[in-house]
Amino acid sequence: MSIESLRALFRPELGELSPYRVPPAPPAVKLDANESPWPLPPEARARLAAQLHTTELHRYPDGRATKLREALAWALGGTPDEYVLGAGSDELISLLATAMFKPRPGATRPVVVFPEPTFVMYGMTSRAHGWESVGVPLDDGWDLNAAAMRETIERVRPNIVYYATPNNPTGNCFSRKTIEMLIESFPDTLHVIDEAYGAYSEQSFATWCEERAQCALMGTLSKVGFAGIRVGWVRLEEPLAYELEKVRQPFNLNTVSQEIATLALTDLAPMLEEQTTFVVAERERLATRLGRYQELECFPSDANFLLVGYAGSVEKLVDALLAREIAVRRFASGEPRLRRCIRITVGTPEENDRLIDALDDILP
Ligand SMILES: Cc1ncc(COP(=O)(O)O)c(C=O)c1O
Repeated sequence: MSIESLRALFRPELGELSPYRVPPAPPAVKLDANESPWPLPPEARARLAAQLHTTELHRYPDGRATKLREALAWALGGTPDEYVLGAGSDELISLLATAMFKPRPGATRPVVVFPEPTFVMYGMTSRAHGWESVGVPLDDGWDLNAAAMRETIERVRPNIVYYATPNNPTGNCFSRKTIEMLIESFPDTLHVIDEAYGAYSEQSFATWCEERAQCALMGTLSKVGFAGIRVGWVRLEEPLAYELEKVRQPFNLNTVSQEIATLALTDLAPMLEEQTTFVVAERERLATRLGRYQELECFPSDANFLLVGYAGSVEKLVDALLAREIAVRRFASGEPRLRRCIRITVGTPEENDRLIDALDDILP
């Protein structure tokens, strides 16, 4: 068999997609991936080390992640059985795409809807699983276009709608009223509210969603200091969580990640909260500084990053920053409005100062 004849056996949808690539060697100042800028402080490291000292690694992990589920229910509400856990929320998007793959009567494929621009994996993962994905452009203020969302959902009858709020890469929270209207109007669609950046915003849908079966809440530890352990979750009604559990690999969350995530949600939670408060203050300081450049337009943010429009060549700006060992995110393809923007993750005060010094140097 030739490579080509084997390639012909891959899902046809993959022909339209490219792998998600991450730059191999990060520069000294890494402001491109919306991670927390802070390494763990020594006391927290000591606490983790003590925990891992007594953790057995020769056995398979707890397939139910019992302690972690309990910690989630304790920290965020609900019952342990309402949570489905994944190796990052990326995995939950994939599990939802696998489990909810049922075309509506008369349709050939199930449909997923999301506002655009947003987190790319909603579309990429769903398409890789054979879904039809429909993006609805955000309005000029990067908010949901209520009428267009409503019309689209009515027309395409999606199984799932994703709302990242705060949204990546625009940074803002969407209008709560619009989200609530859409969720109330379409009760036979699963509305997934992704609060990956919720720790940096004042808004949460947690209690509101508790009353509505058509509402799921997605979360992650990746943006608050634990990107390296890959732990995310989705919270939904127990019977729906039960169905989703059927497509989860039994040992998808390794033992070390389970232990660390449990501590992150309990003993280490006050320390993480201090760090997020600090990042919010630093976000405001950075936004003010960026606002002083005439060539830049800094959009309001409720997250740990800033979307910044640039009047000149974005490519040259990003290259000039990289030459000074500073990585920011650019958007070479996709949504045209984004191509004139960069996304800057809020760093430590020193990193942010270094960015400002570099911009002083680069911008006329
Ligand atoms: C809105 C949003 N949701 C989910 C994720 C994925 O997070 P995780 O690291 O938990 O897979 C990201 C990552 O950038 C994101 O921006």
